[in-house]
Amino acid sequence: MKIIKTVREMQQLSDELRKTKKITLVPTMGYLHEGHLALVRRATELGHVVVVSIFVNPIQFGPQEDLAKYPRDFDRDAALLEKEKTDIIFYPDADEMYPGAFSTYVEVKKLEDHLCGKSRVGHFVGVATVVAKLFNIVKPHFAVFGQKDYQQLIIIEKMVNDLNMDIEIIGHPTIREQDGLAMSSRNTYLSPEERDKALLISRSLKKVEELFREGERNTATLKKEVEDLLHQKEGINIEYVNLCDTDTLEELGTIRNKAVLAIACRIGKTRLIDNTILTEA
Ligand code: PAJ
Repeated sequence: MKIIKTVREMQQLSDELRKTKKITLVPTMGYLHEGHLALVRRATELGHVVVVSIFVNPIQFGPQEDLAKYPRDFDRDAALLEKEKTDIIFYPDADEMYPGAFSTYVEVKKLEDHLCGKSRVGHFVGVATVVAKLFNIVKPHFAVFGQKDYQQLIIIEKMVNDLNMDIEIIGHPTIREQDGLAMSSRNTYLSPEERDKALLISRSLKKVEELFREGERNTATLKKEVEDLLHQKEGINIEYVNLCDTDTLEELGTIRNKAVLAIACRIGKTRLIDNTILTEA
């Protein structure tokens, strides 16, 4: 497994590899868990060269957010990726990615106006910009993203489509702990009591899936069900519970045959998100 820290070296190696092989990229911010590793396994299954990037991207964090305390452990990440037979880790530092005079940003309009984009102003510009840079640096044919960050996934798909980037985006289902909690690097912030409260998020997704299967299509009713469940325990601050169109992310009144139910809430200081796709079988 190669560890590459500079843009120039990564671009040169990718140019060389692309003469005979295809490349699959899995972008991450590190502190890897089973959710990330599932993406890496999906990438490995494709049978091409697998590059995992590890970069805590400063420009996607707001001034009040957790950039400084975002968990990091490169040695542990590298050991996990070695076991997964990752070929290359791209591990640049912030100066390498954003040298002093950096001033170009990628904005995917409209899609960023919904869900997390409302409270995390500028977040998706930061995400789209760093992913565009990673695509130009690693030059992958395929890139794998998790559905856990549903809005991120569709913003990246839209960017690739709108800017004619010749890359196939592969979405991977959310990986959960045995008790249903969606895996996240931020789960490490939760105290045992907070973690217990956090279980209500995935439980409310399950509840809505069940009601949807039974025929409920009114989003106000479904939303209320989630809010009531989340309010069962004190200390869960709901940021949003939305039922949206899976392509445009616009809020729906009545579900026709497909919707995404997306939830964001704060438990203590930790912000957690989760979602599920409701679809008629
Ligand atoms: P990060 O939060 O490290 O996540 C990296 C990738 O892992 C993303 O595609 C995310 O959706 C996926 N992922 C995280 N938890 C998951 C889970 N429980 N199940 C399945 N996939 C999961 O998302 C980012 O980093 C950054 O925004 C990034 C795209 C790297 C740009 O900086």
